[in-house]
Parts: sequence; structure tokens; C-alpha cells
Amino acid sequence: MQVVNDIQSLRTQIKAWQKQGLTIGFVPTMGNLHQGHLALVKAAKQRADKVVASIFVNPMQFGAGEDIDNYPRTMEADQEKLTAEGTDLLFTPTPDIVYPKGLDKQSYVEVLQVSDGYCGESRPGHFRGVATVVCKLFNLVQPDIACFGLKDYQQVQVIQTMVEDLNMPIDIVPVPTKREDSGLAMSSRNGYLTAEEKANAPALYQNMQWLAEQIQNNDDFIGLAKRAEAKINAAGMQVDYLNIVHARTLQPASEDDNELVILAAAYCGKARLIDNLQVTIS
Ligand code: PAJ
Repeated sequence: MQVVNDIQSLRTQIKAWQKQGLTIGFVPTMGNLHQGHLALVKAAKQRADKVVASIFVNPMQFGAGEDIDNYPRTMEADQEKLTAEGTDLLFTPTPDIVYPKGLDKQSYVEVLQVSDGYCGESRPGHFRGVATVVCKLFNLVQPDIACFGLKDYQQVQVIQTMVEDLNMPIDIVPVPTKREDSGLAMSSRNGYLTAEEKANAPALYQNMQWLAEQIQNNDDFIGLAKRAEAKINAAGMQVDYLNIVHARTLQPASEDDNELVILAAAYCGKARLIDNLQVTIS
């Protein structure tokens, strides 16, 4: 696997592949890789001739109170995993390569509507930071396809909407969430959990599954969501939000909607865990 951290080397390699008529699949990450990230690499490999991954802990998507300095950085182990999956090129820029003018002096991308609410409300400016860095990475890598995990459901909708609104010629491939045997969605943030918290954490997804069953034949979405929230809090977590929404618009679900998604975030100790579950009303 080729590892590059400067823009010129990246562009030279991308141009050479394009000249040969090869397609490019892209997997952007912030590193500390686990099986969830590697599922994206596998999906990209199945769909493109060359796979490019990036590792960049993006300062623009972290809020003031969020501890970017303590975000886990495991570059050596990450490179071994990406090599084993057959990644062709890894782009690992530093913040001054991505943001040479500084964060507050450069253009940004804001995706309206789907960025509102849920994680967008709990983390102001987060999705502006995500959309801006992904737009920049797309312009650098020029992929034909790009893979994103459904674990971050709202993020997938933000990226999909950006690509549509701004006419970017890139197919966005959503990849299903990889879970531990307990049902807990794999996440770099799970590393912050103590043994006791890790035992409590699966209650988040378990109660979302309970909720998914309930809404099949009861359309009191708000009442049922409140009950699920109470069950999660009783299991030792603190729910940040738990909503039943339309799968594409992310607007609160109405009784006529069939394609729904349950979106949730909960604090488990210091870690803020997010998860979601798509539900088709039959
Ligand atoms: P990061 O949290 O490192 O995640 C990188 C990609 O891996 C995202 O598309 C995310 O949805 C996916 N992913 C994480 N856990 C997963 C799991 N358990 N199953 C399947 N996919 C999973 O998301 C980001 O980084 C950043 O916001 C980024 C898009 C790189 C922009 O900075």
C-alpha cells in the first residue's frame, strides 16, 4: 500500500490511474480502524479497480467541548489492517495541508435540512465540518464511488444530499453497520467504555429493536419512543435523543410513512454512543 501525505503525490497517482481507465473507490476515515471501517474497504474493492482510504482527524467537525486531542490515533496498526484488506493508497494529510489558511478563513459546505436536528442539534457545526472535509477529499481523490457506514445514518444522508445538490459525479455506497456479538455497534468511541459501561451499552440497540417491533402495529410513535428512552436510561445510560423519523427526509415520522428509521444517541459514562435501526412498516 502506498502512503502519501501531500496533495501533489496524491494527484499524480490519481491522474495515472485515470489515464489507464481504472475506477477509484474511496473510504474516508478518522483512523483507529475496526471491522466496521474494513467492511467499507471490502465494499469499495468489490466495486472499483483501485481503493483509496484516508485517515484524517478533521478538526472542523469537532466542537469546542469535544476533545479532539484525545481522539485515538493508531496509525501503525491502521496501516497494517488497510494493507491486509488490499487498499491501494492511503492519504494521511495533516491539518495544515487540508486547511492551510486555518479553519475560520476558508470556504465551507453546508447541507441544509438533513443536517438539522439529532446529531446536528447536539453538535452544532459538526455536519458543516463533515460536509466540507468530504467535499475537499472528493475533489482531491476524484472517486467514482465512495463508501460510508450506515452506523452514522444522518451523515450518509448529509453526504448523499451534498452529492445530489452540488452535482458531484460520485456514487455513494451505504454499508450496513458492523456490530459486536452483543449487538453494540462497533465504534472507536467504545474504547472509552469501562467494563461496567460496556456491559450496559448493548441495552441501547436492544431497546431500539424492542421499539422497532412495537411500531409495526402501534403508531403512537412519540409515546413508544418515550418508553424506549426510559428503558435505556434505566439500563444505566442517558439518552441524548431517540426519534422515529422518515428514512430519507429525517423529518418526524407520520402514520402514513412506511420507510422509517429510529435514530438514537446516548451517553454511556463519558462516551456518546450513536445507533440507528431502519424499519419498514409491513
Ligand atoms: P469515522 O468515524 O472514522 O468513520 C469512517 C467511516 O466508517 C464512516 O463512514 C462510518 O459511518 C463508518 N463506520 C464506523 N463504524 C462503523 C460500523 N460499526 N459499521 C459500519 N461502518 C462504520 O465518519 C467519520 O469518520 C468522519 O465523519 C468522516 C466521514 C471520515 C469525515 O471526517
